[in-house]
Amino acid sequence: MLSPDFVNDYLDSHLAERQVNKIQHGFPSPRFWNELSVPLDEIGADRRQLSRTVGKPAVFLYVGVPYCIKTDPGKCGYCLFPVEEFQGNAALENYYGYVEREAEMYRSQMEGTTLTGAYFGGGTSNLYRAPVYHRLMDLVRGLFPDISDQADLTLEGIPQLFTREKMEAIRDSGMTRVSMGVQQVNEHLNSLSGRKQTTKHVIQSLEWARELGLSANVDLIFGWPQQTVDSMLEDLETLVSWEVYDITHYELNVGGPTDFALNRYHELPSTLANLEIYRAGRDFLLENGYQQLSTYNFRRPGDPAARDFREGYTTRFDHLDTLGLGYAAITFFGNPALPPGRSWSFINHRSLAQYKAAVDDGRFPVERGYRHTPDDWLLMLLFRSLISTEVNRTQYRAAFGLDVYEKYATVWDALAERGFAEITPERIRLVGDGAFYAPMISALIAEERYRELREEAALRKRQSRRPVPVDVSLPVPGAGSGG
Ligand SMILES: C[S@@+](CC[C@H](N)C(=O)[O-])C[C@H]1O[C@@H](n2cnc3c(N)ncnc32)[C@H](O)[C@@H]1O
Ligand code: SF4
Repeated sequence: MLSPDFVNDYLDSHLAERQVNKIQHGFPSPRFWNELSVPLDEIGADRRQLSRTVGKPAVFLYVGVPYCIKTDPGKCGYCLFPVEEFQGNAALENYYGYVEREAEMYRSQMEGTTLTGAYFGGGTSNLYRAPVYHRLMDLVRGLFPDISDQADLTLEGIPQLFTREKMEAIRDSGMTRVSMGVQQVNEHLNSLSGRKQTTKHVIQSLEWARELGLSANVDLIFGWPQQTVDSMLEDLETLVSWEVYDITHYELNVGGPTDFALNRYHELPSTLANLEIYRAGRDFLLENGYQQLSTYNFRRPGDPAARDFREGYTTRFDHLDTLGLGYAAITFFGNPALPPGRSWSFINHRSLAQYKAAVDDGRFPVERGYRHTPDDWLLMLLFRSLISTEVNRTQYRAAFGLDVYEKYATVWDALAERGFAEITPERIRLVGDGAFYAPMISALIAEERYRELREEAALRKRQSRRPVPVDVSLPVPGAGSGG
């Protein structure tokens, strides 16, 4: 266990440091996903075994798209996701044919499961023409004859690419929700990303969604170049006045060769300024009747179209199975009932050519993965749970036979002393600024294991027997959880 002195020194030295959220990949960082031949047969057999022993396992589906429209600066100035420039509808639909073929490869593994939700993300999933939304849902129904009544089926897109025809097809196909990447309502701030989105695009898309009975979420980013507390609040006021039920307010992840990291770093608010922005945004939304569901997600009760959706977090520890289909899609698969070392995170190819070549050869288009030890899997789920701002001790004990408080007592005690956490016999809750610091707290909790992983990687490098960690660009939020 980390010593109290180490924990306090770590907190003191990291409170003012820029955080990086790990919603997309959890634990560990993809830098350590070194397994180049992920055993899909073993994983398939384990899935089938679970469906015999634990009843109908819940599966969450993620379907990715590689393409985005060109911006200047490129990749919207900040995006860390792997994406490719849109080459027109023929290329997009050709790509989608590959996704259908990949889905077929999973058919027998998915027998006997229940689909609890799906997320069509990207890239930019509303680049598809109207008929393709029906094909997407045909794929879902074909792979999952059993879809939970409460399954949320979300399609993500950018406001300027929605049309009424597309929105109608989305609704008619059976999808239940759209998630709009707005980032900034403020047109000047938004233009720094090179996106050509106007306020009119945003409001028009929201109106169509409402009129057609679709739930709608808006993604905003705080910590944006030139942003102030006032400009952030103005955006939130606008969304609240438009009665948007579901708002996701991400902190900007900065990194890679992006325009914001290279050319606008000096315009970014500091971490402590971000904390001020975060507090003001959170308080404003709470005062206006929103509930905080996670570090980043706020929802106002009463949306007649809403289903249960969790943006990148889970409060469950018993089972996680997110099947990722398509370019760069990530799969998570684990269950405490599996033998040790049989839980996995893996990512599909981030080169479109390699993704297609694998499918053409009849191979699963998996680029690399990580075989979790039981302790790694605990960390994986703890990361996702911390994002929900609450760790349920009772559920954790039921799943793993361990008290999560005792396991990391020095961390929780230090957080409680600083007013960042509340500890009760049933749960540990992040309170006050604790929720804002969830990414930093996750990194602290994983510190000892990361030290081991770094040593193992250094050893491998010396022995040069296995591939060294590659510095992959870290994707950030977007996909939901299987919880
Ligand atoms: C990968 S994007 C895909 C959606 C769509 N293409 C868009 O741009 O809105 C999903 C969400 O991730 C968030 N996101 C992307 N890059 C981010 C970054 N560097 N830091 C924080 N959030 C980011 C944005 O809020 C975005 O809406
Ligand atoms: S932010 Fe969205 S639209 Fe922009 S490059 Fe990333 S995925 Fe594409």
